[in-house]
Amino acid sequence: MALSTPLCDALEIEYPIVQAPIGSVTRPELAAAVSNSGGLGTLAVTWRPPDRAAEFVERTRERTDRPFAVNVVLDPEAKEVATEDHLDAVLGAGVPAVSFSFGDATPYIERVHDGGASVLVTVGSAEEAETAAAAGADVIVAQGWEAGGHVQSEVATLPLVPRVADAVDVPVVAAGGIADGRGVAAVLAAGADGAWLGTRFVATEEAAVENHYRERIVDAEETETLYSELFDIGWKGMPHRVLHNSTTEAWERAGRPTPGDRPGEGETIAEYPGGHPIVRYGDDLPMEGVEGDLDALALYAGQSSGLTDEVQPAAEVVEELVAETEARIDQLSAVVQ
Ligand SMILES: Cc1cc2nc3c(=O)[nH]c(=O)nc-3n(C[C@H](O)[C@H](O)[C@H](O)COP(=O)(O)O)c2cc1C
Repeated sequence: MALSTPLCDALEIEYPIVQAPIGSVTRPELAAAVSNSGGLGTLAVTWRPPDRAAEFVERTRERTDRPFAVNVVLDPEAKEVATEDHLDAVLGAGVPAVSFSFGDATPYIERVHDGGASVLVTVGSAEEAETAAAAGADVIVAQGWEAGGHVQSEVATLPLVPRVADAVDVPVVAAGGIADGRGVAAVLAAGADGAWLGTRFVATEEAAVENHYRERIVDAEETETLYSELFDIGWKGMPHRVLHNSTTEAWERAGRPTPGDRPGEGETIAEYPGGHPIVRYGDDLPMEGVEGDLDALALYAGQSSGLTDEVQPAAEVVEELVAETEARIDQLSAVVQ
């Protein structure tokens, strides 16, 4: 017996486990490690120029002959590159799947199919799921409110997933709040065909982050996140979930003032390796090589950080998730006498 669902057939993967697009944390080493372990690895390219996105796809293809995906965020507030330019680059480089989030994917689905790739669309409601499925999406991702990073729904994963599963006939992947095999088994029971994990994969050896960020996730309790629009410089108007830190605490102490009146607004608090400054309330995270007050940056993480207790190689995370899920489902079958 092995863990396998209709998602595995749809995407030609071995296990229904997806490494979520986790922005600049993703890189070929991470996506390939997950895909080589039988899951689906993902590269997030929204904040990368098209030639760099194509290079990332090529470098991932060199490391794995299994399917992987590229994610493109559609919200115009988040982007500097036209979606068409990203699609030309990644489809030209032969990416097997494209995932869209934070916007209506309808105008792009045919283009991706013509380019020979599958389409995954992230939604935050049953209605959005119906729209995406009607437009031809191959897989729907239902992202609940407890998720780390930018959040598409005000509904939590558990009530969202069955609603989305009832609304569409294509495989559904659950995102938000899942960090171990109990979570994977729970969303399968709720009607999903797979699980999409972000925070747990930030705490992997292959993630392109400074160690401080990994350690903060590993140390965090489930109660230590903040859902707000605080880190809005670079991407305005989209709620996100981060770990509490000196920036969030000073803002709360000041009575949650609006942009323009926030403590330390405009201050440079860190810089990228090339010297490009990062200001307080910027949407930048502590990517590998960033120097400065790392703890004051946006430490994107979900409530699942309470369940993420160790920094591990990504392959080990996939293997552990599969083994735990199989064991959990086995135990549950004994509940019915
Ligand atoms: C560091 C980080 C960056 C993220 N970047 C993206 C992104 O570029 N595109 C996207 O669609 N979702 C992004 N997300 C959301 C994840 O894809 C996923 O939905 C979320 O992490 C699931 O919740 P979990 O963190 O509890 O596993 C990000 C999440 C994190 C933690």
